[in-house]
Amino acid sequence: MLETSEISVQKVEKSKIKEVDFNNIPFGRVYSDHMFIADYKDGEWTDLRIQPYENLSLAPASSVIHYGQSIFEGLKAYKTKSGETAIFRPKANAARLNKSAERMCIPEVPEDLFMHALKELLKLDSAWIPDQPGNSLYIRPFVFAMDDYIGIKPSDTYRFMIITCPVSSYYTEPVKVKIETKYTRAAEGGTGFAKAAGNYAGALYPARQAQKLGYHQLLWTDAKEHKYFEESGTMNIMFVINDTLITPEAGSTILRGITRDSVLTLARDWGMKVEERRITVEEVINAAKDGTLQEAFGAGTAATIAHIKLIGYEDTDYTLPAIEERKFSNKVLKAMDAIKSGEAEDKFGWLHM
Ligand code: COI
Repeated sequence: MLETSEISVQKVEKSKIKEVDFNNIPFGRVYSDHMFIADYKDGEWTDLRIQPYENLSLAPASSVIHYGQSIFEGLKAYKTKSGETAIFRPKANAARLNKSAERMCIPEVPEDLFMHALKELLKLDSAWIPDQPGNSLYIRPFVFAMDDYIGIKPSDTYRFMIITCPVSSYYTEPVKVKIETKYTRAAEGGTGFAKAAGNYAGALYPARQAQKLGYHQLLWTDAKEHKYFEESGTMNIMFVINDTLITPEAGSTILRGITRDSVLTLARDWGMKVEERRITVEEVINAAKDGTLQEAFGAGTAATIAHIKLIGYEDTDYTLPAIEERKFSNKVLKAMDAIKSGEAEDKFGWLHM
């Protein structure tokens, strides 16, 4: 176990917190006072430090800039009703970071380093964790290649950092999505399951084409046939058809979302029929046509649940049932919020205090 003394701490001279309107926070634009940094060299993580949030200094040849050897995580901390800090499933994020690390030839971040850094950072910036319902502290751990070398090879040096920002909801309204049948987010054997920076960069152009047509995001389909659903924007996709919750199984092209797992766990606990399987565009469009598609939503850390109100496919828009009528996604969102705020029993041990 790491000792607190192994992290050096330099505090801000003056906190920025008074400048922040916590009743009106845009997603991802306002950062808390401090950040955590560790550097990897000679085969170990060294120089663990917490310091004021500030710009970095990087060599112009840093391999992350040229070749994108970079991974990240997203998780959230909440203030419970009794004022305690609760982090939602952080060890699951630590484990997933290391799955991404392996795929991207990045050294692992030991779980105790990840947890220790996170706890010390949140202790220092606990005042930044919003207590307004629906708001939270978004936590962004990331690791990137630091070698000052323009040749292509896995870097020898890396930086692990954690920054945090108070956030409200990611989407301000239910989303309109277009089924993507030309571009691909991930192919079998690629990096789709990893939270690798490049996956997100490659998705920007197709998403922008859909946004020009008035959609918010894409429903990604498989690379080979564009026949099976994969993800929704940057989230996992879920459908309720008749009374069954269906989501694509998490293979090599799909991120193993922690919100995805939480939703499936609650659904199973409530006795709902859950299927993790390949699901075709045809099945969903037919269900939209015959009225058996009850719900569609994205599940991810940033948005938690993003209700889908409309699906566009081959020049036709299919409008889904009204959000207020959606029994499952509203219930699961409420249940997760209640666990996070400490109002409901944390029966799966998801909160880390
Ligand atoms: C998350 O839900 O944490 C994500 O990764 C979305 C992010 C791209 C904002």
